[in-house]
Amino acid sequence: NYQAQRGSVLHFLDQHSPEYFADGILVTDSDKGTVVAVGEAESILAQFPQLQVTEHSQALICPGFIDTHIHYPQVDVIASYGEQLLDWLNNYTFPHESKFADEAHASETADFFLRELLKNGSTTGLVFGTVHPQSVDAFFRASEALNTRMICGKVMMDRNAPDFLCDDVASSKNDSQALIDRWHGKGRQLYAVTPRFAITSTPEQLAAAGELLADNPGVYMQTHLSENLDEIAFVKELFPQRKNYLDVYDHYGLLGEYSTFAHGVHLEDGEYQRLSETGSKIAFCPTSNLFLGSGLLPLDDQPFPVGVSVATDVGGGTSFSMLQTMSEAYKVCQLRGHRLSPQQAFYMMTLGNAKSLKLDDKLGNFTAGKEADFVVLDLAATELMQRRQAICNTLDETLFCLTILGDDRSVAETWVAGKKVYSKDEAN
Ligand code: GUN
Ligand code: FE
Repeated sequence: NYQAQRGSVLHFLDQHSPEYFADGILVTDSDKGTVVAVGEAESILAQFPQLQVTEHSQALICPGFIDTHIHYPQVDVIASYGEQLLDWLNNYTFPHESKFADEAHASETADFFLRELLKNGSTTGLVFGTVHPQSVDAFFRASEALNTRMICGKVMMDRNAPDFLCDDVASSKNDSQALIDRWHGKGRQLYAVTPRFAITSTPEQLAAAGELLADNPGVYMQTHLSENLDEIAFVKELFPQRKNYLDVYDHYGLLGEYSTFAHGVHLEDGEYQRLSETGSKIAFCPTSNLFLGSGLLPLDDQPFPVGVSVATDVGGGTSFSMLQTMSEAYKVCQLRGHRLSPQQAFYMMTLGNAKSLKLDDKLGNFTAGKEADFVVLDLAATELMQRRQAICNTLDETLFCLTILGDDRSVAETWVAGKKVYSKDEAN
């Protein structure tokens, strides 16, 4: 069963190869959940004469956004006043995360969180649960019901946190393995081994995380790295034998192509070098880095080339919207004397982030056969945006206005695996 959406269509074949159809059609298959074809309306209509076409005016159709670092249990932590990282964790985050021992609370929050992502046009995420394995079961059940492609994991933490939020070496390993067996590769769900960060794991637990990765090839790894100066000093105190912060993770076998390190704001040259050599990735979280006062990521100033994705980091981050996140990324780059182009921003939110998660064989653009996750963006969602878009003369200007001014109001529809799962009209 084919569906066809007509509007402007933008996707990327590669980093520097955008494909743009000013009057385009995207054809998807709701039975298979995949992309059938994309192209200029005229040529698609000639190819598929029977097609029932839905027309979207003043719309830009692009691949669903991908968020490479976000905490679903921090929905209620967003906008917590006054602290930087370590106090923010102790005073706000840990108390909220304790509630996820209750599976009903976890399920309700997972449903809200996924609806919020879809409302903002994000269709895939690399997501932290809490220490409680049932928080991850609840999350995957909710994601499975929507058929979204999500990567999630149970937080491993066995020190420097309240007792009620700590696991131990054996339980963290057994619970993670059981979740991998239950969920990794089930439908569209994927698992990430999730040591919170070096401060909250003993050396023995980090070793267990490394064993989980060695035992389960293709499973992801997510953690935090070099976000805040007090955090870095504490890591050096806890692991005096290690060369630097990243070396803690390196020592326990946590680096690699499936590994995403959130933040990496204050890295030393040697850390860039090891990230680069191992194909590990950094997730740039601009709204979080600004909100928590962590620092300005030098996106364009790397001594060794490291893959960087973009992420919201809700609830340290302040918005579910990848458009808002790119708007802040642009401003962080401005302060570092670097220009983030509007096309680069759209590439990063879609194919770039898919590549960073090694999902670009499945997601990130409209190549025929890929999973049909996409978003219909309304270029004139508000009076101001309508007025401003009316004087945009080029695709770059249009994209830039959308990035800087856009948010959830700009998302008209979100589709997952060929099915419409969010419509702004129906939500209102
Ligand atoms: N470092 C360790 N845990 C967290 C977290 O929950 N959020 C952020 N932003 N940084 C962290
Ligand atoms: Fe985070």
